[in-house]
Amino acid sequence: MNDTTSIKHQAPLTSGDFTAAEEPFALFADWFAEAVKSEPNDPNAMGLATVDADGLPDLRMVLMKGYDADGFVFYSHIASQKGRELATNPKAALLFHWKSLRRQVRIRGIVTPVTDDEADAYFATRPKQAQIGAWASKQSQPLESRFAFEQAIAKVAARYVISEVPRPPGWSGWRIAPLRIEFWHDRPFRLHDRIEFRRDTTDGAWSKVRMYP
Ligand SMILES: Cc1cc2nc3c(=O)[nH]c(=O)nc-3n(C[C@H](O)[C@H](O)[C@H](O)COP(=O)(O)O)c2cc1C
Repeated sequence: MNDTTSIKHQAPLTSGDFTAAEEPFALFADWFAEAVKSEPNDPNAMGLATVDADGLPDLRMVLMKGYDADGFVFYSHIASQKGRELATNPKAALLFHWKSLRRQVRIRGIVTPVTDDEADAYFATRPKQAQIGAWASKQSQPLESRFAFEQAIAKVAARYVISEVPRPPGWSGWRIAPLRIEFWHDRPFRLHDRIEFRRDTTDGAWSKVRMYP
């Protein structure tokens, strides 16, 4: 089952020749809606690439939890490896690969933290166990044993047996406002279709370029 019901997004366009699209967000909505129907799990999973202070790239999967004309949102721990890298260099790349559709969407842009209200609202939608886990995990720090983690979880769970779990201060979200969005669709014999939307500023107008595969 795809748990994407809580994702905030805009209405999709209907499919046609995607290379005729005039702007990227409606096309993304279109492709994402199709991925929700056809992917066996996590159609909202995306690779998130950041760079560390030495310029060494880093990459891991995260779940997209919202998108609109302002950008693509994910949530995590502020002190995690990715959180520290984004604090040093607030730029990132994202990659969706929907195998069932043979499609790829590649995004590069500028990263800003979401507001506290936005993070609180999303955190409140998470299952209680996941909320407890967010308090118990020191994400990206060495963990001595699984038992130590389970002890930490039990301690937090005891604290919130009756009451609601508030959002931990070290847990929040980020929004990637795109400067580039490339749509790639498999065609036979590796003669794939690629179009890239580009703009110089996050509030600028898009231009579109078709590219050799
Ligand atoms: C499909 C998938 C989705 C994931 N989604 C998230 C997510 O939304 N947030 C998160 O913090 N970690 C998520 N993870 C775990 C991350 O890939 C990563 O292990 C973790 O965030 C620590 O990364 P870091 O040490 O680079 O900060 C996900 C992993 C997978 C495989």
